[in-house]
Amino acid sequence: MNIGVPKEIKNNESRVALTPGGVFELVNYGHHVYIQETAGIGSGFSDEDYREAGAVMLPSIEAVYAMSEMIVKVKEPIPQEYPLIKRNQILFTYFHFASSESLTRAMIASKAVCIAYETVRDDDGSLPLLTPMSEVAGRMAIQQGAKYLEKPIKGRGVLLGGVPGVPPGRVLILGAGVVGVQAAKMAAGLGAHVTVLDINMKRLRYINDIMPPHVITEFSSVYNIKRHIKNHDLIIGAVLIPGAKAPRLITRAMLKDMRPGTVLVDVAVDQGGCFETTRPTTHEDPTYIINDIVHYCVANMPGAVPYTSTLALTNVTLPYVLKLANLGWETACAEYPELGRGLNIVKGEVMVEEIRDAFESLLA
Ligand SMILES: NC(=O)c1ccc[n+]([C@@H]2O[C@H](COP(=O)([O-])OP(=O)(O)OC[C@H]3O[C@@H](n4cnc5c(N)ncnc54)[C@H](O)[C@@H]3O)[C@@H](O)[C@H]2O)c1
Repeated sequence: MNIGVPKEIKNNESRVALTPGGVFELVNYGHHVYIQETAGIGSGFSDEDYREAGAVMLPSIEAVYAMSEMIVKVKEPIPQEYPLIKRNQILFTYFHFASSESLTRAMIASKAVCIAYETVRDDDGSLPLLTPMSEVAGRMAIQQGAKYLEKPIKGRGVLLGGVPGVPPGRVLILGAGVVGVQAAKMAAGLGAHVTVLDINMKRLRYINDIMPPHVITEFSSVYNIKRHIKNHDLIIGAVLIPGAKAPRLITRAMLKDMRPGTVLVDVAVDQGGCFETTRPTTHEDPTYIINDIVHYCVANMPGAVPYTSTLALTNVTLPYVLKLANLGWETACAEYPELGRGLNIVKGEVMVEEIRDAFESLLA
């Protein structure tokens, strides 16, 4: 199969969809891989690295789309790519269709086969192509939070690990899923005192089993949240109710109960955020302050660490790229049902109920 990897052109996106190692693997199976020149630079891979692995480097995005039966990407195509997409071309990437009617319209019109990373779903409901990005965001949440706790950037001036003779900082984590566990692990590693709240007792039992004793768990209730926000320095929002907007666990009125310089990191910002005062921010301007409380609400946290994020993402996508290339999309999606659940729009037909629900008028 001819497989193409364009350079990501979405603002601030430095990840790339295939590493030279992935190219090597595909070429070994007899496939042709076309990479747009400089596509890997932001993730630390040179054109020479790709050539050595067996890729053909092409000078333009137009050439990559024109040569390829399957396009592998990181982010959804943006409007300038729409006219380049060919009928029956496979597009394998993050789409998040329900959040963009214009993208949905464009992909229906393209008659391409759109397989979305975010809906590839295992039988147990887990989302294997989303997990690594949650892992990155969870670990980053503590790194960012620790930085913004510094006084010059308006934080409380607390060192999370403390020092001998001075107690450590306190970190409150709302949600003990993938993001929450990784955040707890990082915070505990720094020596912080960590409190993790969730409504799922299985998750709390898991945390209790694997974490050191300075990580404590409690059931998530309004009462407990109100009690803890008063004496924690860094609060991480990491809740998710699948398919729904994040619950608002900290209201605007509750900010006055926190100490000035407390830092809120809302990782759940991409689902609307779990603090009432959350609004999405960017890596250029990641924070804002309300009532002396620092808010960090970057919606694409993994984009700031493309060296790590590209490897983490391609570790999980490559096996599916190989299946699609070796078997063709129809056989691959039939033999691997989790991949089949990634089919969102196929040759103009919408396959996913959530997209149909989101844009009823569009599809009527
Ligand atoms: N900002 C970013 O760059 C970025 C990157 C990756 C993931 N995310 C987002 O982070 C969020 C968490 O992702 P995840 O992979 O950890 O999800 P997950 O499903 O693994 O975990 C979510 C947890 O929230 C818990 N929860 C639900 N309601 C709760 C409540 N009222 N109180 C406490 N806990 C509650 C659930 O029981 C679950 O354990 C999602 O919104 C995801 O989209 C953001």
